[in-house]
Formats: sequence, structure tokens, C-alpha cells
Amino acid sequence: MKIGILGSGFIGGTLAKTLSAAGHRVKVANSRDPRTIDADVLSTGAQAVTKEDAVADADVVILSIPFCGITALAPLLAGLPAETVVIDTSNYIPARDERIEAIENGQADSAWVAERLGRPIAKAWNSIYSVTLKEMGRPAGHPERIAAPVAADRDRDREVTMALVEDSGFDAYDAGTLADSWRQQTGSPCYCTEVTLADLPEALAAADLARSRRRRDLMFAVYQERFELGTNPGRDFIVGLSRILNAA
Ligand SMILES: NC(=O)c1ccc[n+]([C@@H]2O[C@H](COP(=O)([O-])OP(=O)(O)OC[C@H]3O[C@@H](n4cnc5c(N)ncnc54)[C@H](OP(=O)(O)O)[C@@H]3O)[C@@H](O)[C@H]2O)c1
Repeated sequence: MKIGILGSGFIGGTLAKTLSAAGHRVKVANSRDPRTIDADVLSTGAQAVTKEDAVADADVVILSIPFCGITALAPLLAGLPAETVVIDTSNYIPARDERIEAIENGQADSAWVAERLGRPIAKAWNSIYSVTLKEMGRPAGHPERIAAPVAADRDRDREVTMALVEDSGFDAYDAGTLADSWRQQTGSPCYCTEVTLADLPEALAAADLARSRRRRDLMFAVYQERFELGTNPGRDFIVGLSRILNAA
């Protein structure tokens, strides 16, 4: 497929690499000049382009930029054909992002994004820690393959997104509509806990929005403390913390 990725950081950069390696034609953009995109991101064939070039003629557009910047992409995405599959990887964290009343009042993060963009989107990869995404992808059928939920309102968006999640090395699971996607948001039982396909349905069913929010805020406070101390929490720390906070 022809894939345009907006954002070449931890998530977008890894997806550019893995989806190119899986045989897709990937174009990737950041917020600056394409020449500033890391060579490693392009090492499996992705092409560094401007934002406009990334979305032009794409079958799929992946949004992998900070949550607070996504609504500003609306004019860029407005000209896309209705059938283009737009996938959101983002997470709303009020301690980091601008506080959004609609989400505070219960709207799912990506339902709010879809409303602001004025078009259907799918949500995927948001529940996978960046290091997990980079290092823990496994071939289909591998016993330790980690699973990722996919939420979407249109069948084709769901099918295409699930196929790309599989291509990125993770088992895809149909988690329902965007309105249901609060179950895969930050702090939920499937968030950064590296669950397998066997355990993912139970993790989604166990989600409780008020508890997820409390866990999200606790997690973010711990991350912040680490960042302020000048240390970057590794995968063991992030996954361990998420699992402890979600232990029954
Ligand atoms: N990090 C994680 O573990 C993780 C896990 C799951 C989901 N997520 C979500 O995935 C998204 C990306 O996270 P990340 O960790 O990859 O972020 P990141 O490493 O900070 O990278 C963000 C990227 O977005 C680019 N960008 C910012 N505004 C842009 C714009 N208007 N147009 C095009 N590119 C733009 C930045 O460009 P420059 O390089 O020019 O600054 C950068 O390449 C976020 O919404 C995050 O919540 C993150």
C-alpha cells in the first residue's frame, strides 16, 4: 500500500521502518525539512518528504505526532478522498497536553480527534510502548507475539488497519468502534502491558475509565520524575509499572 506517515519520532519512525520492510511504499514527514529525518528511519526504503507529499496519493495516512498538534492537521487532511484510511496513534495526557473538556467529560480521545478532523479515522498502536514497538515485533504465530487493539467505525478502515498492525509484528484485535476506544487509552489494562492476543479481550473488558485516568496520571507523574532526574525509563520499567498498576 502507499502509506504516508506524519511524524518521524519514536512511533512514526519505527512504523516507517517496519512497514517499508514489510513491502509497503512509505513516505514520512516531520514538522521540519525532510532532510532532518534520521537516516535510520529511512534505512528500509521509506522516503523523506514534506507533509503535503506524504499525504498526496496515499492509501493510508498515519498520524504519529503529539496529541496537541493533531487538530492543526485538519486543513492538510481535508482534501483527502473519503476512502483514505487515516490512523491515529495518539494519546491524550492532560498533564502534558492542553486540557480538553469533551474528553474530560467522557468522549474517547480518538472520537474527539475524528470530530476535529471532520472525517472517520482508526485508532491503533497507541497502546504499545515505543521500545516495545521497535524491539518486540514478532512473526505471525510466534508464541510471545504481543497484541494491539484496533478501533474504527468503518469496516474497511478496520480491515486495513488490522492488516498493517499485523505487518508491524503484532497481533491485531478488533476492539470495536472509536466510541469504545477509551478501553485502549492510556492507563487502561492493555496500555503498555504487552498482552498477548489470548489476554487482550479480557484486558479490554476489564477497563474502567475512572481507574484508567488515575493510573494514567500516576504513570505520567513517575515518568516526569524520571525525565527530570535525567533518566529515560526503559522498557522493563514502563511495562513493569503499567503491569503493577493494573494488577488485579
Ligand atoms: N512514545 C510512545 O511510547 C508512544 C506510544 C504510543 C503512542 N504514542 C503516541 O504517538 C504519537 C507520537 O509519539 P512519539 O513518541 O513518536 O513522538 P515524538 O518522538 O515526539 O515524535 C513526534 C514527531 O511528530 C513530528 N511532528 C510534530 N508536529 C508535526 C506536524 N504538525 N506535522 C508533521 N510532523 C509533526 C515531529 O517532528 P520534528 O521531528 O520535526 O519535531 C516528530 O517527528 C503521540 O501522539 C503519542 O502520544 C507514543
